[in-house]
Amino acid sequence: MRILSGIQPSGTIHIGNYFGMVKKMIDSQNDGELFAFIASYHALTSVKNKEDLERNSFEAAINFLALGMDVEKSTFWIQHDVKEVLELYWILSNHTSMGLLERAHSYKDKTSRGISANHGLFSYPVLMAADILLFDSNIVPVGKDQIQHVEMTRDIAISFNHSYKKEIFTLPLAKVDEEVATVPGTDGAKMSKSYNNTIDMFTSSKTRKKQVMGIVTDSKELNEAKEWENCNIYAISKLFMNDDELKDLQKRYETPGEGYGHFKQTLLAKIENYFAPYEEKREYFSQRPKEVRDILEFGAAKARKIAASKMEQIRDVVGLI
Ligand code: ADP
Ligand code: TRP
Repeated sequence: MRILSGIQPSGTIHIGNYFGMVKKMIDSQNDGELFAFIASYHALTSVKNKEDLERNSFEAAINFLALGMDVEKSTFWIQHDVKEVLELYWILSNHTSMGLLERAHSYKDKTSRGISANHGLFSYPVLMAADILLFDSNIVPVGKDQIQHVEMTRDIAISFNHSYKKEIFTLPLAKVDEEVATVPGTDGAKMSKSYNNTIDMFTSSKTRKKQVMGIVTDSKELNEAKEWENCNIYAISKLFMNDDELKDLQKRYETPGEGYGHFKQTLLAKIENYFAPYEEKREYFSQRPKEVRDILEFGAAKARKIAASKMEQIRDVVGLI
């Protein structure tokens, strides 16, 4: 079984990205053959500055390596090192109706937030389809917001297979972990870079403390019992605590005497503990850009081999001899 996922190198990574996608991706190395890449071409839809794209791509690479990407067992590369994907993107564009792209939520969301529409943003799902179909992916682990893109990939693949009367493309399935499908941010809305409500993974203790202390709560006093059910601190704590720890926390909420600041301190310590082992590894790679570049090239070579052979098959079936 082939599992494939891409992550956009769009700045620092937060715990929503981690629990929604990255962790699942890393864990899936035990379930099948993992193909994971840094979506540098996709990032061009939002990052229009050379230094930012380079820095964010490097950060994404070292984050994944620190978090346990096994580059021997899996195939890990940066999207623009395997150019076949752009050829497939063009071919697939001719099997993608305008209506399909016009219905894309993520495009509609972005334009309604004032991001100016251009062809890259509009055709983004076709490039994503090319990523997925080029590697005959079976499973695509994604957050909820990406499900529609995987469904569009299936539609494009079905249309192509139908046109050429051949099962050229494998139909992928999106895999969403319902339990952590949407990680709430510090204000209770979906955690997202764009909402300024994140708790970042690799950041200074000072920043992380500020983010955790900024979690929005009601204004109950120390001597009042509190409700954990609808509390943002509790909702985020669920990601880091086991059942016993959560029961204990519930009791603390129900017993007057402690304030939200105390629960925030408990959560902060939990988060720091959780990510400490990864921080050391990340530091190692951050000091060794050449080693990181070589690792990505090693992955790209493996990916290119598969992509080249798939493209030969595709060119043949469409008549690009
Ligand atoms: P952001 O919303 O911060 O810009 P991205 O859109 O770059 O995050 O998301 C990268 C990946 O992380 C996607 O697969 C997305 O579904 C997942 N993801 C992002 N935010 C969350 C969240 N709050 N909960 C669960 N998954 C998330
Ligand atoms: N669109 C995805 C995101 O924003 C990133 C991505 C690009 C991707 N190509 C992919 C994810 C292929 C899964 C499969 O998160």
